[in-house]
Amino acid sequence: MTVAVLRRPAARLGVARGAWFLFVVALLFALPGLAAPAPGKSAIASAHPLATAAGMEILARGGNAFDAAVAVSGALAVVEPNGSGMGGGGFYLLHRANDGRQVVVDAREVAPAAATRDMYLDASGNPIEGLSTRHAKAAGIPGEPAGWAHLAANYGRLPLSVSLEPAIRLARQGYVLDERMQRDFGRVIRDEGLDKAADPSFARVFLVKGKVPPVGHRIQQPELARSLEVLAKGGADAFYRGPFAKKLVAGVQSLGGIWTVEDLAAYRVVEREPVVTTYRGLRVVSTPPPSSGGVWLASVLNVLSGYDLGQFDSVTRKHLILEAMRRAHRDRAQYLGDPAFTDVPVRLLTSPDYAAGLRASIRTDKATPSDLLPGYVQAGGQGAHTTHFSVLDAEGNRVGGTITLNGWFGAGIVVPGTGILLNNQMDDFVMKPGVPNMYGLVGAEANAIAPGKRPLSSMSPTFVEGERGVAVMGTPGGSYIPSMVLMGILHWSAGADAQAIVAAPRLHHQYQPDLVFMEAGALTSDEQAGLEQRGHRVNQWPATIGNMHVVTWDRATGKVNAASDPRWGGGATVH
Ligand code: DON
Repeated sequence: MTVAVLRRPAARLGVARGAWFLFVVALLFALPGLAAPAPGKSAIASAHPLATAAGMEILARGGNAFDAAVAVSGALAVVEPNGSGMGGGGFYLLHRANDGRQVVVDAREVAPAAATRDMYLDASGNPIEGLSTRHAKAAGIPGEPAGWAHLAANYGRLPLSVSLEPAIRLARQGYVLDERMQRDFGRVIRDEGLDKAADPSFARVFLVKGKVPPVGHRIQQPELARSLEVLAKGGADAFYRGPFAKKLVAGVQSLGGIWTVEDLAAYRVVEREPVVTTYRGLRVVSTPPPSSGGVWLASVLNVLSGYDLGQFDSVTRKHLILEAMRRAHRDRAQYLGDPAFTDVPVRLLTSPDYAAGLRASIRTDKATPSDLLPGYVQAGGQGAHTTHFSVLDAEGNRVGGTITLNGWFGAGIVVPGTGILLNNQMDDFVMKPGVPNMYGLVGAEANAIAPGKRPLSSMSPTFVEGERGVAVMGTPGGSYIPSMVLMGILHWSAGADAQAIVAAPRLHHQYQPDLVFMEAGALTSDEQAGLEQRGHRVNQWPATIGNMHVVTWDRATGKVNAASDPRWGGGATVH
């Protein structure tokens, strides 16, 4: 195809055949991923060993990375229901080895047609507690099932019915709560008050006599198994149209939700061009709007490109990273939203020239208070759960998938008779200018609620490509996501391997609240004092907010590597 397109100009220019051949070969090598040798091994890192095993099983059955992504996502919906699920959405960043195609499959939820700008406010214009988080009204129209069907039909080799088999099996046969999961489940369920909430469908699946189940308890989800089967056998149409859709809508409406069958029938995944930026010889590929991730990363990396970070002492280096983060988060709050509804100035925000302006406003010796940046929006807060996985297959196909129900167990509500947990993704919209969402994020008009609109996300599945090889990375963590991915890119750029990247302690700034968030170990006491002297206020980071899963392929050595965040008990396998 490439050759065919190029042949005519070559003939016109009278290029000799030999020279033309050499030119094409050189071109192929210049395009990342196009003529590279295959890794020969596959790697998957996800938040749960059973989900990683599901992906590996599908690879062993002849599937590629895209089939494996379906299998991993399906299994995560069953074994990590606090993070993502059939009732949620997310973004899949794909790299196809045979032609180098890179694309984002946007399976983000959309606001139902009956959604209104002020739907979470009372008569006096104040947010109604819990309505955008713990209520059926908090749920957007799910995108994950359509995303899986899209991956299978357009990129995979196996039918959905095969790739979803492991998930269906896990849902039907169940899985045993080990100590770690029981502790995590227990904390989440108690912290969120889900043991007290009166959702009988949730309690039937995830509680035992109204309490957190004990270690050794087998969680079985026969209704979810049936819902997965509907999709596996009938494809997206069977989920989004017809009797199953009717049942889902009736269930949601019985819980006070506003979905209609028309909303489900109208749902579409969107294929989008990734945001691509370069940083010190690396090519960084990430999610475009309606995720803020790629634009945010491009902005921060462009600002940092103008410094030789290695030349600075560690306090100044971290100060500069934090100041770049602050500015990118200001722009997120101001400008970003669903591009179908608002003009997002992607070209401006990702341009090195714009970054040069941001850089010029940074002082090396002093923090810029957020309220002194133009376009200040007031706020406070922080956040909950989601999941990321990374896949590389033996041919070199790659998937970075970040998928979510938003909060822990989404809205904490199971649609009766379906086993499907409702997301609470509507909380990612701005319910009122200046009112922070559950991640403390503020925003403006660009991310206001409107029917059919996708809420702005921070999810950032990312490829980092360069001479050294490729890394696929991502993490949950709400507003903290892009910061964690940024740190991963900087560590990879400095030579760290997958294990070091997922384990590294992290730093974060999100403009509002005007605080540096540090994970234990991210700053020495001297560094903290140095930042405080520059005017930063430093806060301890909630201990377990990120859960990063990385796979890498080192082109020079051919080594394939996979690593899961040691803060949690994920599953990383190379085969
Ligand atoms: O799309 C977003 O940015 C959020 N709904 C993601 C939520 C999340 O990562 C929670 N994790 N701790």
